[in-house]
Amino acid sequence: GRALRVGIAGLGTVGVGVVRLLAENRDILLQHCPWPIEVTAVSARDRRKNRDVDLSKFDWCDDPVALADHPKVDVVVEVIGGSGGAAKALIERAIAKGKHVVTANKALLAEHGTALARSAEQAGVALAYEAAVAGGIPIIKSMREGLAANRIEHVYGILNGTCNYILTQMRETGREFADVLAEAQQLGYAEADPSFDVDGIDAAHKLSILTAVAFGCEVDFAGIKISGIRNVSAMDIEYASELGYRIKLLGLSRLIDQGAERRIEQRVHACMVPQNALIAKVDGVYNAVVTQGNFVGQNVAIGRGAGQGPTASAVVSDLMDIARGRILPAFSAPADTLKKIPAAPEGSH
Ligand code: HSE
Repeated sequence: GRALRVGIAGLGTVGVGVVRLLAENRDILLQHCPWPIEVTAVSARDRRKNRDVDLSKFDWCDDPVALADHPKVDVVVEVIGGSGGAAKALIERAIAKGKHVVTANKALLAEHGTALARSAEQAGVALAYEAAVAGGIPIIKSMREGLAANRIEHVYGILNGTCNYILTQMRETGREFADVLAEAQQLGYAEADPSFDVDGIDAAHKLSILTAVAFGCEVDFAGIKISGIRNVSAMDIEYASELGYRIKLLGLSRLIDQGAERRIEQRVHACMVPQNALIAKVDGVYNAVVTQGNFVGQNVAIGRGAGQGPTASAVVSDLMDIARGRILPAFSAPADTLKKIPAAPEGSH
């Protein structure tokens, strides 16, 4: 069949993972999807850096935005990151040129998701972002497809691998926060600016996307109440353990539906979770997403939330959907029908 030609912008942990997966799992991909997925062009800041992967067959673009204009690119994979700058310019240009977009960029979607979904739909291209939420857990696919027959009542979970790794290590080794953060960075889990992880912002970015998918509403990152784990000490964790609890950074979103008045409550903060709860046992870099649907009941998805392999797995699953011609609206409803649901006032139940 005709190949789907991919341009990758950003050759950090994720971009290199995508190149590796496409090469190493080529046979598996062809088994599921007869249209081969070929990288044709790449872009990154430093051309000479050793990335332990063969890039010699790809065209090199110094300017990532040029990938959108590249004649041999059908789909742009944006794994540069950041809610503006080159990532935003590239995605907007790709959509304008009628090219599909696959992105892992939760910050960008949290800030501009509704607008980008609208332009992608007008252009008839995909805006796919499985990798942006909960790393390797196929939660977007699950919510838009397997759970799509349900009215979703709430969604919550462990949405940041770095924080969960830090909290787990602090509990298991008694070390303090700063020590363990450096490790999470070395493992390729943390954001370029790790304050996004530890202050709860990254989890909130992901939560805002889950909320839009769950409730068919506009993305409302500004409506989230956010706090992080900077103030959690090894001693807090130890006391919580003695009382039978684990401390987890959770993102929680629920629809408060009182007839004509609908509100959404979204928050991110450290929670005391009873140690017997399923979610309390989700440790290390693992994430978990719990959904409540009115017919299916509760679903729990658990998997690695960060790192090269899981994120590449999610990016390539989106590429396979596009290769198969499966293009869905970005947020579970056509973008021009997404409702604006106001945030619940503080302290409401
Ligand atoms: N820094 C993020 C995390 C990466 O730790 O979860 C995955 O989005």
